[in-house]
Amino acid sequence: MPDTPTANDLPNAPAAERNFEPILAALRVEFVGCRRVLEIGSGTGQHAAGFAAAMPWLEWQPSEMPGQLESIRLWQAASSLPNLSDPLEIDVASASVPAGYDAGFSANTAHIMSEYHVERLFRLMGRALYPAGVFCLYGPFTEAGRFSTESNRQFDERLRLGDPKMGIRAIERVDEFAERAGLSRRRRYAMPGNNLLLVFERAA
Ligand SMILES: C[S@@+](CC[C@H](N)C(=O)[O-])C[C@H]1O[C@@H](n2cnc3c(N)ncnc32)[C@H](O)[C@@H]1O
Repeated sequence: MPDTPTANDLPNAPAAERNFEPILAALRVEFVGCRRVLEIGSGTGQHAAGFAAAMPWLEWQPSEMPGQLESIRLWQAASSLPNLSDPLEIDVASASVPAGYDAGFSANTAHIMSEYHVERLFRLMGRALYPAGVFCLYGPFTEAGRFSTESNRQFDERLRLGDPKMGIRAIERVDEFAERAGLSRRRRYAMPGNNLLLVFERAA
């Protein structure tokens, strides 16, 4: 059994550290009346640990692709929070969907997954959430065919050069996937770094 890690030993994604506070400010509003949150693509797990600590009324359920849970487990062990659940293995492409959540969250995943997988992410949320449940999706998006900045356009170019299936998604396409899954976009928050936090609600 390894020793419990200290904060300094934990895997750290600088982007997740930078965007933590602005995302938290929006989630405090959106998740105020919620109880159970399902996070998709938790990455290092630092968001899950930080959000669970900052919003103790929530039961936070992190998840990651099969075989990629180790970092989340390290953050969980270091934080030892009663409201941070053991991570689940979830690939949005898989058919089995956990249910019983009134909130969903995913950060910086839509441009990393293929567009097909983004559609599956919405389908998953459409089934995992109770009616009137909310899903908050954070990341960069294009609107009306335009990148918000030249740096986002260059980022998109780099992503697609590395893997043609990756890329910054059009907000209109994302809204279409949401509608097909029974979710509608209700609100949007402008975030630092030209990112957005989009809030979808499952039909009541
Ligand atoms: C850029 S990272 C973001 C991680 C974390 N949410 C954050 O903000 O730091 C993108 C994440 O999406 C996850 N991901 C990619 N494809 C996925 C899929 N098909 N199902 C679930 N997660 C996926 C990756 O494993 C990775 O952790």
